[in-house]
Amino acid sequence: MSDLYKNIEFKEIYNNLKKLLVNSYAPYSKFHVAAAVETEDGKLFYGVNVENMSYPLTMCAERVAVFNAVTAGYKKFSRVYILSISSKPTPPCGACRQVIAEFPDNPDIIMFTGDGEYYEKKNISELLPLQFEF
Ligand code: THU
Repeated sequence: MSDLYKNIEFKEIYNNLKKLLVNSYAPYSKFHVAAAVETEDGKLFYGVNVENMSYPLTMCAERVAVFNAVTAGYKKFSRVYILSISSKPTPPCGACRQVIAEFPDNPDIIMFTGDGEYYEKKNISELLPLQFEF
């Protein structure tokens, strides 16, 4: 895994995401994900993945977090944090990249290792260099 940083700065957010993993509804894939969106003024909004027995209706944790922030009136994001049950950092899926890229400030995506000791960081324009626009 490239560009792993020691996680000494985001421990509290990692701990919150770790607790939230139990709320993830993933009976089909068993792949539990939690995400947080940080607004430019430091507010945090959280989400977990919510699956459905009609599989395509599943919603990713990152989009739930973004939609929670937008619902509360926030649209400028400085960071998005992701934790899953995997030991490796989990990057956002393509659909979530497009949704995150919709909003300004080119947020950093912080992807924690499962034990929270390390994270990988990429900004959204690195993860989605040619976003759809019209
Ligand atoms: N999932 C997320 O929550 N975020 C992603 O970026 C990728 C995938 C969820 C959707 C599904 O519930 C499970 O992971 C397996 O695909």
